[in-house]
Amino acid sequence: MTGRLDKVLATCALISRTEAQTALRAGRVTVDGAVCREGKNRVDSAAQTVLLDGRRVEGDGFVYLMLYKPVGVLSATEDKKGAVTAMDLLPEEYRKAAPGVVGRLDKDAEGLLLLTSNGELNHRLTSPRRHADKLYRVTLDAAATEEDAAAFAAPMDLGDFITQPARLELLEDGRVCLVTLREGKFHQIKRMFAKRGRTVLTLKRLVIGPLRLDPALEPGRWRPLSSGEIQALLRAADMM
Ligand code: URA
Repeated sequence: MTGRLDKVLATCALISRTEAQTALRAGRVTVDGAVCREGKNRVDSAAQTVLLDGRRVEGDGFVYLMLYKPVGVLSATEDKKGAVTAMDLLPEEYRKAAPGVVGRLDKDAEGLLLLTSNGELNHRLTSPRRHADKLYRVTLDAAATEEDAAAFAAPMDLGDFITQPARLELLEDGRVCLVTLREGKFHQIKRMFAKRGRTVLTLKRLVIGPLRLDPALEPGRWRPLSSGEIQALLRAADMM
């Protein structure tokens, strides 16, 4: 991010302008190795090394997080009826940055949830024209077959819409599957399996475009994306 140092600190380190001023006055901020106390100095956090308390301050001013959404939590940012939402699992400083959820995940599903305040990226990753591939691990009440895989690969009429080709891979005895979807219509996987006479027992999202759920994340935990992950997403959305 390019701009006044106090603004860059506040936006990228998720602190208030007042906290940024306090840190600057206390000599806790360095730019390219030299202590800087002037909040009004212009910096470019990509070209210069800005450190706050020895930690790199960088970013484009947006928040990018991955959350392991547990079963029972809504993939929304707020709920009028007071149900627990993804936002409730984030600390205050991230909530204040108001990230939006990229692509819904049912309340009874779990797995990768991408949250970002970068509205353009959110729009591009979910727009019908350039949907990113999403990969889900599914368990079923009865084994899926190669005929089901062929049916998933062909357009399927779900009443209110016709699906785009989806990929169904059978694991183990067919009761466990991997499903790759381009689009993400309401209850799509459950409805596709229902059409084939199966019931989805569990559904876990593992991948959105180039982003994979960190296997080290426990359900309910989150982490900021690495700069490599952010760049891969921006590239996938033709924004780099
Ligand atoms: N398909 C579903 O049925 N539910 C989801 O949450 C995502 C895909």
